Amino acid sequence: MPFFLFFLIIYFFFFFFFLFSPIVADDGAVMKKLATSLYSTPSDWKSNDFCSWTGIRCDKSKRVTSISLASKSLSGTLPSNLNELSQLQTLSLQNNQISGALPTLANLTNLEEVYLDNNNFTSIPQTFFTGLTSLQNMSLSQNGNLEPWNIPTDLADSSSLVLFYASKVNAVGSLPDVFGSFPNLQSLRLSYNNFTGPLPKTLSGSGIQNLWINNQLLGLSGTIDVLGTMTQLTQAWLHENAFTGPIPDLSNCTSLFDLELRGNQFTGIIPSSLTSLPQLVNISLDNNKFQGPFPAFGNGVKVSLGTTNNFCKPKSSPCSPQVTALLAVAKDIGYPMNLATSWIGNDPCQGWTFITCDAQQKNVMVVNFAKQKFTGSISPAFANLTSLKNLLLNDNNLSGSIPVVLTNLTQLRVLDVSNNNLSGPVPVFPHGVMLKLAGNNSSIAHGLVAGIVAGAVILMAVVIFVICRCYAKKHKQKIGLVPLPQNDKEMGKNGVMGIANGHGGFGNELHSQSSDDTNEVQVFDGGNVAISILVLREVTNNFSEENILGKGGFGVVYKGVLHDGTQIAVKRMESAAMGTKGMKEFQAEIAVLTKVRHRHLVALLGFCINGHERLLVYEYMPQGNLGQHLFNLNENGYSPLTWKQRVTIALDVARGVEYLHSLARQSFIHRDLKPSNVLLGDDLRAKVADFGLVKNAPDGKYSVETRLAGTFGYLAPEYAATGRVTTKVDVYAYGVVLMELITGRKALDETMPEDSSHLVTWFRRVMINKDNIGKAIDPVLNPDDETFGSICKVAELAGYCTAREPSQRPDMGHAVNTLAPLVEQWKPSSHDEEEGYGIDLHLSLPQALERWRSEGTTDTVNYSFNNSSSTSRGDTQSSIPPNTFNSMDCR
Ligand SMILES: *[C@@H]1O[C@H](CO)[C@@H](O)[C@H](O)[C@H]1NC(C)=O
Ligand SMILES: *[C@@H]1O[C@H](CO)[C@@H](O)[C@H](O)[C@H]1NC(C)=O
Ligand SMILES: *[C@@H]1O[C@H](CO)[C@@H](O)[C@H](O)[C@H]1NC(C)=O
Ligand SMILES: *[C@@H]1O[C@H](CO)[C@@H](O)[C@H](O)[C@H]1NC(C)=O
Repeated sequence: MPFFLFFLIIYFFFFFFFLFSPIVADDGAVMKKLATSLYSTPSDWKSNDFCSWTGIRCDKSKRVTSISLASKSLSGTLPSNLNELSQLQTLSLQNNQISGALPTLANLTNLEEVYLDNNNFTSIPQTFFTGLTSLQNMSLSQNGNLEPWNIPTDLADSSSLVLFYASKVNAVGSLPDVFGSFPNLQSLRLSYNNFTGPLPKTLSGSGIQNLWINNQLLGLSGTIDVLGTMTQLTQAWLHENAFTGPIPDLSNCTSLFDLELRGNQFTGIIPSSLTSLPQLVNISLDNNKFQGPFPAFGNGVKVSLGTTNNFCKPKSSPCSPQVTALLAVAKDIGYPMNLATSWIGNDPCQGWTFITCDAQQKNVMVVNFAKQKFTGSISPAFANLTSLKNLLLNDNNLSGSIPVVLTNLTQLRVLDVSNNNLSGPVPVFPHGVMLKLAGNNSSIAHGLVAGIVAGAVILMAVVIFVICRCYAKKHKQKIGLVPLPQNDKEMGKNGVMGIANGHGGFGNELHSQSSDDTNEVQVFDGGNVAISILVLREVTNNFSEENILGKGGFGVVYKGVLHDGTQIAVKRMESAAMGTKGMKEFQAEIAVLTKVRHRHLVALLGFCINGHERLLVYEYMPQGNLGQHLFNLNENGYSPLTWKQRVTIALDVARGVEYLHSLARQSFIHRDLKPSNVLLGDDLRAKVADFGLVKNAPDGKYSVETRLAGTFGYLAPEYAATGRVTTKVDVYAYGVVLMELITGRKALDETMPEDSSHLVTWFRRVMINKDNIGKAIDPVLNPDDETFGSICKVAELAGYCTAREPSQRPDMGHAVNTLAPLVEQWKPSSHDEEEGYGIDLHLSLPQALERWRSEGTTDTVNYSFNNSSSTSRGDTQSSIPPNTFNSMDCR
């Protein structure tokens, strides 16, 4: 028996020794090595308990999860076995002077964030990125001493990648094909390297928003056509490269605000799809070889054109007809560089290559493109050079067919297209035209027969009637329940057919609740909210420049003034710039807004469909948006918001969003909450705007997979990573807005150093130690003790709201409950102050309507801060807490 015990003890001893102790010892060994290979480590790094060292965090089993030593003046090197810290999630060593070889990070499957920028590393191993399956943020920028290296394709293992920063790291070779494969990649920065070759075609459809590939030593080359498919782009820096060809159609890149193209070899004319981009504010085109008319960008756009481009002069007039025709010809062969450098000025008879004019030097007589290796097609625009006698296109690589309109050239004597790759029927030219067709696809000869048949085709004239499809019909009384309020700024009188007042929309709600008809637009047909385009034109001064309030997602917003002085905001969206996505968005917006009425949500008053245009009419918010009051105050002439105003705005937004989230029967998720979508009234009370991205969460489902929408800087991590959207993505974005209110800083501030440009990361880092909060507060607030206490509470709430795990974020009701007492500190609720704010929307809509009908006025329903957050869960028709409607007992 004692022997048995003895063996048992020995057995357990060895069991623990061999199985457990080495795991614990492992991190210890690596950490010890780290402590000795780095210089100037914090003084507490001498102790044995590495988990207590400054900058180190461990999990419960004493495994290191985080190393955070940014800007600590560290030098020395990193141990080569760093990747034995297998639980490591965060490695932040940016802004030091660490040198030597970077260790491999291979197979650190928990690693999410790596910041190594701004050091002196000298080499990077091939396996550096292998198996980093959780990696989201990788920043290596500003390590200019690295030996030349290629980005390994193993990076493809990191399928959750969100940010990849490797600017100024001496990277060479072609851009690897991996970047198009990351569904969540938002920001790719590879500036100041020596990448060469073309943009990978696999970038097509990528959701990258922020693309910096400027200043490559020899230059990236080829065309930038793929940009047209990268519809999420906001900022694209391509300057100082060797790109060629024209600017592609970027009309689907509706969020693009900054496009830097200077210092390349671009050619062609500036397309109107570029000048009309709705968000564009910054564009550089200098040091290229652009041609054609001077581009006309909108007023607020900062443009640099330089002196090397050859736009037609004088500046404001169009190019001459012959120049226009020849540039159209050049377009169909891809605007070759040899034409761009020679075709200068507004008269092709002044020394343009390949062009010969008549004796008076007025009209183009000969175009001779023979043997130029041109590709592309023969442009129908040759037909506009009406004096053309000889057209020599032989010995190129032109494809396509010969345009029929060339038969209209009455002066034509010779058309030589021999030795190309043309196909299709040959049109029938008049007698006396010498055609040279040899050396093309055989079908071109057989095509002659077909050509004769084609010659008999009768020209068809298509008359397009532009039909205004706006519904100018009177209200059809399909609903029959909705009387017009007597005290309203109503229809008829002001000439606006059927602008709904704050209550008109309820009819739709009743209708949709009382039938199974789920087609929102049909519901709309019966509603009273369609407005004539003629009226909208009139009230916006024919959509004049002066009336522009702003340019937002998918359109321009105009101010309008009705005959009775009521101000409205008209959002006008062109379908050309919208595509089907825009149309869907339009319907989503109408469907949602008609259901949603709340004092803290901007009301939709009406809409109009006019051909390809979609217009929405909103209530006008005179004080602009929250962003204008927080950032760039001077530009807008606003004074800084006090803390009291900020926390009141925060509460308003919380209430608006809470209402969206808790609408009866279904939940609505905003998905793009940010300061520019928070509009302010004259009293600086806030309403949430722009439901264009709202996704209607279907019954019985808590999350919906969607195409990523929203704005970089406000995206919840799980949403960015998986596209799954719940109400918690709004809570996250709301937390970011709170941080902006506290700090006066933008969610993403590119002017800050990289480690503090992302507000959430920075703020959470600062707040690890509560004593630091003073550093984060907007300096203009200069808080007294009471205010400081209030700020702390909001900061804490902001922290909860931006928790990494959605389940750890509170719901909006919690935000309302937290903020309401803070607002009341300064602002005890009273009967008067809520006057004019309309109906209490915690009533179900039919109940609200009923109340309003019986009382004929709206301000008798009182609103209570304390109760608001606990209401409107589930079906509001049956669950209204009775005290919601009592007036506040203010003492
Ligand atoms: C824009 O997007 C629409 C819809 O996806 C597509 O049909 C259209 O071809 C795109 N336009 C361009 C210029 O890529
Ligand atoms: C526009 O470019 C200028 C310099 O070219 C820069 O200072 C400014 O911040 C840019 N603005 C935006 C919105 O990118
Ligand atoms: C010819 O010129 C007219 C008028 O400038 C223009 O409308 C037409 O599109 C041009 N034709 C071609 C084929 O470019
Ligand atoms: C000729 O044109 C056809 C399409 O019309 C194309 O498939 C082929 O590659 C072209 N040949 C050459 C040599 O460019």
